[in-house]
Amino acid sequence: MMDDDDLYERVRRRRLYIYENGRKFNGTRPESESSNVPPEWYEPQTFKHAQELFDNFHSIMVFTNFMGLILGLMCDDDILRVLLSTGKSETVDKLFTRYLSTAKHVEDWYRYDPFDTESKSFKSLKMVRSMHRKVADKLNNNQPADSQIEIRMNQREMFLTQCAFFGISTYIPKQLGYHQFTQKDFHAIYHFWRVIGYCLGTEDEFNLCNGSDEEVVEMCRQIYHYDCLPKIRKCAERYPMSSAIIKAFYGHVFPFNYSSIMHYVAPLLGLDISLYPLTTFKEWFNYHMLKFTMEKMYQYTLFTKLANRNSKKATTMSEKKQRSIVKKLKKQYPDISFTLETYPFVLDSNAND
Ligand code: HEM
Repeated sequence: MMDDDDLYERVRRRRLYIYENGRKFNGTRPESESSNVPPEWYEPQTFKHAQELFDNFHSIMVFTNFMGLILGLMCDDDILRVLLSTGKSETVDKLFTRYLSTAKHVEDWYRYDPFDTESKSFKSLKMVRSMHRKVADKLNNNQPADSQIEIRMNQREMFLTQCAFFGISTYIPKQLGYHQFTQKDFHAIYHFWRVIGYCLGTEDEFNLCNGSDEEVVEMCRQIYHYDCLPKIRKCAERYPMSSAIIKAFYGHVFPFNYSSIMHYVAPLLGLDISLYPLTTFKEWFNYHMLKFTMEKMYQYTLFTKLANRNSKKATTMSEKKQRSIVKKLKKQYPDISFTLETYPFVLDSNAND
């Protein structure tokens, strides 16, 4: 009991420290611009193990990334405003392009060596750092001279976004299909994201995965319970954008729609299930398929292999058919748009579709 209390308190103090101090520093450490030098804590074998896991559990790990994204998007005003500022999240088709590109970057990180200057991973990380820096510079240099200076895209936001990429797998692993994962496997995932955080310019001091595995898990739990959950519960004006991301990928990468996904995770994550009703037979069927797949089918290696193959194929197909999907989404959702001017968004009664 004493140990649990210690862990809770230690992590709580670090979290509050990061919330307060992470705001003061730019999210991209300056010296990280062309860094090909691994940090002294880098464990190449562990990193490689995470890459093998992604190869073998592609479907659940991609789903986890998206879940973090749609829940994370609902939470943090500052992050959402930065994303809205560039216009790349403005419509359903743009969201498709934006997050397909993100998925491709993440795939490269999970495939190649981040410290080999010739590798796709190194080049991708360099490109993302540069995107972050450009957006941050533009926002930070455009603040009115008399306003209180706030650093946009700061270390606190990097810390929270890191959580969005894998955090949900720490609190409901079995319900997301991680039945076959061992402690060593989870350690590899935390190490992977520690390295990616480092490569993108997060200071060790603010790196979510800088700590023991139990501290990482407890940190994700606290971020969700004390930071995200209260905001998601009041999120009505934000969730149209999360729902739009799933609309963009439904049928191409995911066989599940927004209502069925949210109906499934709501009771697991302390959300009000009545906000995510199943209104058609298709949604009801989708929900039961999702539940059965996650809770039962992923226990079987054969099913996991099959789902994995399909998931990789779906991502590759989406890349190949990107232009026609974008065209179709443009036609299908001409009236959905997300801009800084229209934020907070007005809740659309059909947002659950
Ligand atoms: C560990 C943390 C992060 C990771 C792994 C990450 C990942 C990425 C990736 C892969 C891209 C490329 C997307 C593309 O090709 O279009 C990207 C771009 C971008 N990211 Fe991040 N990001 C992180 C943190 C953040 C934070 C904290 C913010 C905002 C406060 C942010 C805002 C942006 C923006 C504005 C872009 C440019 C594309 C756009 O306009 O949406 N990122 N990020």
